[in-house]
Amino acid sequence: MNRRQLLGFIAIMAVVLATGGFLWHRHQQTVASIQLQVREATAGKELFAGLCETCHGPGGDGAGGAPILNDGSVLKTYTTPTSLSAFIQTHMPASNPGMLNSQEATDLALYIFRLNHRFPPAHG
Ligand code: HEC
Repeated sequence: MNRRQLLGFIAIMAVVLATGGFLWHRHQQTVASIQLQVREATAGKELFAGLCETCHGPGGDGAGGAPILNDGSVLKTYTTPTSLSAFIQTHMPASNPGMLNSQEATDLALYIFRLNHRFPPAHG
């Protein structure tokens, strides 16, 4: 291998390594984002079962007499996880409004988006 070939080889290796590093980084980001979504979905589900089900029914089916939360109608009023979360934090549970912190309200909002078969981006 002469000097020119050697430099060419080094240049190619640099590109290969940079691309590999970039893809690995993207992969790590995807894994982190999925882990975050799973954590939020689980936390929201548990909170809902403990605090909301008595009035809104299991899975938001309306069995307790309060509005149904899984037929898409609630997302016509609250179109983003942020607006839904703000409403929840200030108004729900109706028996004790204001008891939830913003993380809990966000977890519940994302859970309700999932009940309605909407999957907002992790940072929506
Ligand atoms: C004591 C009964 C009760 C509990 C507990 C309760 N809710 Fe409600 N919820 C209501 C009633 C009644 C309404 C309708 C009146 C209103 O919007 O304030 C409502 C409305 C809502 C709405 C708006 C529905 C729409 O279509 O506009 C959302 C979202 C909601 N609740 C989420 C929750 C969440 C999340 C929890 C648990 C943290 C919860 N609620 C706990 C009684 C309850």
